[in-house]
Amino acid sequence: MANQVSLVLNLCCLVLLLSNSTQADSDDNRKVYVVYMGQKPRDDVSASSLHLSMLQQVAGRDGGKYMLQRYTKSFHGFSARLSQEEAQKISGMEGVVSVFPSRKYKLATTRSWDFLGFPLTVNRSTTESDIIIGVIDSGIWPESASFSDLGYGPPPAKWKGICEANFPCNNKIIGAQYFKGDGAYDPKDLQSPRDSDGHGTHTASTAAGNIVTNANQLGLRSGTARGGVPRARIAVYKVCWKDGCSDNDIFSAFDTAIADGVDIISISLGSKTLEQLFQDSIPIGSFHAMMNGILTVQAAGNEGPRPQSVTSVAPWVLSVAAGTKNPDLITPVRLGNNMVVDGVSINPFTLDGMYPLVYAGDVPNAKAGFNGSISRFCFRNSLDKNLVKGKIILCDQISTEEVSIEEVVMSDGAVGSVMRYGGPYFELFGSYPLPVSVVNSDQATNIIRYIRSTRNATAIIMKSEDVTNSSSPYVASFSSRGPNPIDKNILKPDLTAPGVKILAAWPPVAPISEVEGDRRAVPFNMISGTSMACPHVSGIAAYIKTFNPAWSPAAIKSALMTTASVMSAQINPDAEFAYGAGYLNPMKAMRPGLVYDADEVDYVTFLCQQNYSTQPIRIITGVNISSCSNLMKQTKDLNYPTFVIPTMRSEAIDTNFTRTVTNVGSATSTYRALITQPRVSGLRIQVEPSVLQFEEYGQKLSFKVSVQATIEKLDNPIVSGGLTWDDGVHQVRSPIVVHVPW
Ligand SMILES: *[C@@H]1O[C@H](CO)[C@@H](O)[C@H](O)[C@H]1NC(C)=O
Ligand SMILES: *[C@@H]1O[C@H](CO)[C@@H](O)[C@H](O)[C@H]1NC(C)=O
Ligand SMILES: *[C@@H]1O[C@H](CO)[C@@H](O)[C@H](O)[C@H]1NC(C)=O
Ligand SMILES: *[C@@H]1O[C@H](CO)[C@@H](O)[C@H](O)[C@H]1NC(C)=O
Ligand SMILES: *[C@@H]1O[C@H](CO)[C@@H](O)[C@H](O)[C@H]1NC(C)=O
Ligand SMILES: *[C@@H]1O[C@H](CO)[C@@H](O)[C@H](O)[C@H]1NC(C)=O
Ligand SMILES: *[C@@H]1O[C@H](CO)[C@@H](O)[C@H](O)[C@H]1NC(C)=O
Repeated sequence: MANQVSLVLNLCCLVLLLSNSTQADSDDNRKVYVVYMGQKPRDDVSASSLHLSMLQQVAGRDGGKYMLQRYTKSFHGFSARLSQEEAQKISGMEGVVSVFPSRKYKLATTRSWDFLGFPLTVNRSTTESDIIIGVIDSGIWPESASFSDLGYGPPPAKWKGICEANFPCNNKIIGAQYFKGDGAYDPKDLQSPRDSDGHGTHTASTAAGNIVTNANQLGLRSGTARGGVPRARIAVYKVCWKDGCSDNDIFSAFDTAIADGVDIISISLGSKTLEQLFQDSIPIGSFHAMMNGILTVQAAGNEGPRPQSVTSVAPWVLSVAAGTKNPDLITPVRLGNNMVVDGVSINPFTLDGMYPLVYAGDVPNAKAGFNGSISRFCFRNSLDKNLVKGKIILCDQISTEEVSIEEVVMSDGAVGSVMRYGGPYFELFGSYPLPVSVVNSDQATNIIRYIRSTRNATAIIMKSEDVTNSSSPYVASFSSRGPNPIDKNILKPDLTAPGVKILAAWPPVAPISEVEGDRRAVPFNMISGTSMACPHVSGIAAYIKTFNPAWSPAAIKSALMTTASVMSAQINPDAEFAYGAGYLNPMKAMRPGLVYDADEVDYVTFLCQQNYSTQPIRIITGVNISSCSNLMKQTKDLNYPTFVIPTMRSEAIDTNFTRTVTNVGSATSTYRALITQPRVSGLRIQVEPSVLQFEEYGQKLSFKVSVQATIEKLDNPIVSGGLTWDDGVHQVRSPIVVHVPW
């Protein structure tokens, strides 16, 4: 199998090489590349002529026609259509940090605030409306009640952004721009910041939507919808289109948002494998955001539960996993014998009584040559319409991108459908245009047993109802997992927030199910993903910033992580690699006591250790470091609020971490170190000093954590403990994770 794949790859590259050498500048061979040149140029004019002359050097006198976008506001570079050969030549030019093909990110697709212990009545700063959250996503639906500007004054004075011509910005949505460098629009794309997808409207309203009472989705989950900072302003940067979200456009969005003066960047994109930090738009863009005092909050990705699937990896980014919350929704199916099977979906329909129930395998379209072994999957045309019409049908699979079961059973006249699902992603099932409940394999087998046991089986699919799951919160199976594929010393994801069945604003033109022709329009919709978890954290990061405007991105990040609620490794055996530091706790994050701060120099040291050499680091950061070797430490010594010890089985561990904490609590305070030992026999953790005595606000004190052990055997690939600095008022907790390769 692996051989076949590589063979295919070899063939494709051979073809590329051949055609390259014969027609070096054919437009067909050109792809969009991003050329990244580090720190913001001194002036735009000379940068522009530099970009042009670089293109001309490789692509001839009229090379300028291949230019797509220029990045000059907050960092330096451009995007252009280049052949592989040209890209290579440019990457060798002076001042170029990296040249990489523009690839695509995917959209990582309320009572959640009350569940977080963050009630409507929380104290709010009068300066909340001075905070601006930049949302890089699929645009926004400005007419949603969540974005009304009733009672808002003019934008804060620091705001320098713009609103695309003819777009109805207001004093809530103070900026809206869109980016599509290749100009390749799909007929369904709206060429404006307006959101036809729904994702961007949903995430923006979760971060900073107004308080809207009586929000619900077709009668489900009635309540008040609101963002984390309902008085904050929103700036929209649309980069996601029908064909995905491209690096070159994301780059433009960061370049612009930083210069516009946003306070927090919320980016719910992920699900793309990263190989190097400085060959990708989000790590680079967020690095420059960090240098400008802006924290970037990103979705961890929806590629779980596979280890190393996390796609948000840079230490200066806050990477958010998706957790469940209470209440959850279930969609019960009651059978004619009164047995109730609790399936999953978001079902707003109320059926009026019992309907005949059939198993798809029993009703094949024999005339068309189908038998039960095919029809049980409810493939198109495989069912006998006459035997399906007016009934509830049990299918042996769920809808996927290739097959839409609800389309099949609807066109065959079914009243509703129960679908069997054998995989792990139960949290993802959402809305359908008819009553649907998704059940697991055992439940489906029980239903078939019931059908076989009676002449005329009947069932009803109930409207979804709230349930309290005593296991909640836990991390959803789809949420991407660590360890960090780029640097295993940096724990990822960082934190967990609600990301399952989140109710938030929705454009009336955006579909609520995948089914073509489902024209139900809703002002609020419930969807799931790390995309939905991310803006919860962006909102609270903004909330913290309203009270502490001078805090660095790392300080805000530390406050969120060290106050997170501890989660259970019983339900998520991959522990910190599923949930990071724990579950977002907004009220505690307001008062962290101590923070693990970090600035440019700390990250430069980190980059040196990542084997970036001195020269590109100078270009990237503009910091005049004389040499990386003077800064040599290990990436584990980055002042991160977590401790990770990667090891091999039967290896002696001897690891020392140094950390520095800054007092942001009471001026005089005494913190004592409390250690929760990971359950590894023979492991010894010591903290020195074990008492930190602060005399003033802002004071910094350092300590060392030393970990020694010989790991004979780990029952689990990951074993967790923790270090908590406690002054009796604040508990500043960091996970300590020992892990072996999977
Ligand atoms: C809200 O602010 C008031 C006055 O500053 C304070 O007394 C109260 O404890 C605060 N409440 C919370 C929940 O922080
Ligand atoms: C059902 O149809 C499939 C494909 O047409 C065939 O391979 C299979 O043998 C059939 N099964 C039965 C039990 O007739
Ligand atoms: C089957 O349905 C008929 C009428 O629809 C009803 O009279 C009968 O009691 C049903 N039998 C069983 C076993 O439920
Ligand atoms: C509660 O969560 C657990 C853990 O994922 C799950 O196995 C169980 O089915 C859930 N229970 C309900 C009632 O949803
Ligand atoms: C950097 O290079 C050194 C020496 O070649 C190597 O041991 C280390 O693993 C590399 N670090 C990373 C993060 O690639
Ligand atoms: C950078 O540092 C080196 C030596 O540390 C010095 O010679 C050089 O002038 C500095 N460059 C700038 C631009 O400050
Ligand atoms: C770590 O610190 C301990 C205690 O201070 C010391 O004995 C040990 O040699 C140190 N290990 C390393 C790898 O520096």
